[in-house]
Amino acid sequence: MNFQKIIYGLVIASVLTLSCTSSKKIVSTTNRKLSIDMKVDSVLKLMTLDEKVGQLNQYNGFWDVTGPSPKNGQAAKKYENLKKGLVGSMINIKGVKNVSALQKIAVEQTRLGIPLIFGFDVIHGFKTISPIPLAESASWDMEAIKKSAAIAAEESASVGINWTFAPMVDVSRDARWGRVMEGAGEDPYLGSKIAVARVQGFQGDLSSYKNILACAKHFAGYALAESGRDYNTVDVSETTLQNTIFPPFKASVDAGVRTFMNSFNELNGIPATGNAYLQREVLKGDWKFDGLVVSDWGSINEMISHGYAKDSKNAAEIALNAGSDMDMESSAYVENLSELVKEGKVKESLIDDAVKRVLKVKFELGLFANPYKYCDEAREAATVGKNEFQEGVLDMAKKSIVLLKNEKELLPLKKSGQKIALIGALANDKTSPLGSWRIAADDNTAVSVLEGLEKYTGNQLNFAKGADLAVGRTQFIWETKINTTDKSGFEEAIALAKKSDVVIMVLGEHGLQTGEGRSRSELDLPGVQEELLEAVFKVNPNIVLVLNNGRPLAIPWAAEHIPAIVEAWHLGTQSGNAIAQVLYGDYNPSGKLPMTFPRSVGQEPMYYNYKNTGRPTMNETDSVFWSHYIDEKRTPLYPFGFGLSYSNFSYSDLKLSSPSFSKNGKIEVSVQVKNTGKVAGKEVVQLYIRDLIGSITRPVKELKGFEMVELQPSETKTVTFTIDEKMTDYFTANRKWETEAGDFVVFVGTNSNETLEANFSFSK
Ligand code: BGC
Repeated sequence: MNFQKIIYGLVIASVLTLSCTSSKKIVSTTNRKLSIDMKVDSVLKLMTLDEKVGQLNQYNGFWDVTGPSPKNGQAAKKYENLKKGLVGSMINIKGVKNVSALQKIAVEQTRLGIPLIFGFDVIHGFKTISPIPLAESASWDMEAIKKSAAIAAEESASVGINWTFAPMVDVSRDARWGRVMEGAGEDPYLGSKIAVARVQGFQGDLSSYKNILACAKHFAGYALAESGRDYNTVDVSETTLQNTIFPPFKASVDAGVRTFMNSFNELNGIPATGNAYLQREVLKGDWKFDGLVVSDWGSINEMISHGYAKDSKNAAEIALNAGSDMDMESSAYVENLSELVKEGKVKESLIDDAVKRVLKVKFELGLFANPYKYCDEAREAATVGKNEFQEGVLDMAKKSIVLLKNEKELLPLKKSGQKIALIGALANDKTSPLGSWRIAADDNTAVSVLEGLEKYTGNQLNFAKGADLAVGRTQFIWETKINTTDKSGFEEAIALAKKSDVVIMVLGEHGLQTGEGRSRSELDLPGVQEELLEAVFKVNPNIVLVLNNGRPLAIPWAAEHIPAIVEAWHLGTQSGNAIAQVLYGDYNPSGKLPMTFPRSVGQEPMYYNYKNTGRPTMNETDSVFWSHYIDEKRTPLYPFGFGLSYSNFSYSDLKLSSPSFSKNGKIEVSVQVKNTGKVAGKEVVQLYIRDLIGSITRPVKELKGFEMVELQPSETKTVTFTIDEKMTDYFTANRKWETEAGDFVVFVGTNSNETLEANFSFSK
């Protein structure tokens, strides 16, 4: 018997009844949201308490689709629960065949036939891998980022997935934290714009089979883990939460993100998963978020280790009451919630609210109408890895590259007549460029730098590894060892460098040295790479250093000595092609750093929008008692927003339409940007402000606007921004967003450190 049909019949009947008894407006309404709410209510009415709890249960899929795999202890129980309608969602199932098989059980074998939603970490692509999110963020190109997310959505949707656990919108200020690779960097304004682009790219039009649910994560504070150690304690003020951490989450809600994930960390003493302030007061209260909140993996039960819940049952009670709607892989809800309701510890109305949120997204995805909407084998075959995706991720990869240094006219490379030595194990690595979150991509599927350069045939190209970076199986970081001793390949590399005109050295981090659980206590080039670099430099200083990494690195020696440095991150499937096009000048780099690069790890956490302190500068008679280090400069190696081009840009004529504005008023700011170079190029013009006096002290600079301009040689363009209260407001001592009367500075320039500036004021 097909219960799915029955339930759909009941839903329709119920909706009709509701419509008929309601006003004419409701009968004739075309408001999809309203009609979905009515459908949701009608389904809820049919559900037993256990079935409701089941919708809040998400299992990781590790059984064979025809039944539980004998090796997995919990599998049999999970399989039984699935058949009883006690599962609302599955994660880590991929492939139309597998998804359909499980959906069939949910739809045909459970009493109500409610379809499952299938979640997966589609973080930077599925099979076709785009640059890691931090790299994409360096493009400052919202259309490109949106398109990249849309590609990831379409490809993963074609294999049955309809929910990605992305974007990660945590503002990250500490490069030691391994997950900086997954976010948009250190700035709340840029992070908010990127959050919106990604949400729009993934979700697009949810009625389409090409789009999937997005998930803003990790709510909240996860990136501010003490000492950059993943999962560590987070203790931050409400000011920092409101002004720095929340904005990209709020922007995601405003952009219509349908799901949120809470986080592993405790926040000011209360684990985020059990944090009612975050989930009920801010997210579902102040921001009126009507989508679904999923816990992070096992984070409900982790409240026991945090010392916040005494057992799994207590953890379930705390989490649900605090507003976590769905339990990812703790089994705490499915095993305890019904009983907790009967004992009066959890109100059924709160369960109902959580269930409605789950049902709602299922309706929005169209799964009640067609549970197999994402299951079409022909579409899957035609979609995965298609050419159009390859072109899309190549475009994104080129836009993500940041030129950090270019002296001695080493770049772009000449197209002929040069002897080029390519050195570094990463140059010949087809897996590392896939980065950290590439759980569905196959090893050895990235275009390596060697392959990319080989397509340019005019020069004589020779490769020498120099030294291994990672040894052993590199599939899992815990099985990967970094080579710290073997320098047997140095000699060959040095000999090759000696007889070459230019040396390209590809050095950095292996793709799996960043990501979840991969915090580092050093930010140098791992292993023997720095030694290799310096040894090669001795015989041939004409080095182009191509960095592959998932976080800012501290490379002061290279920054001082190496004439050309290209930040190429982990760029995904088309990595080598993108790098080759940039090195040869077929693409003029335009990326800008979304995170500060420090001089030394001891400077971390380091970010451009710091507070001034009471002792910001050295005074002549007293060289010790100011805010600095005695053994390191306090400035960054490369500042936020920094990035060069093969063109040169000059800034002039910063003008304000008025020196002041008042309530509901505005000031137009304009600047002239000229391409003084020999080739056409793109420049990201950046606007920062400083609020000089605040009821809460304000950062020395805050990004508040940017625009990308494309300029031909000698061309000048006027770039205009508008200053209004929206740009100048912040969460003040009055605990609200407002612009305080007073003086401001506006800065416009090529990065957070090189700007023109002018003053303005605001009066109420
Ligand atoms: C991560 C999440 C991820 C989840 C599911 C967790 O360990 O923190 O970001 O979405 O696993 O794979």
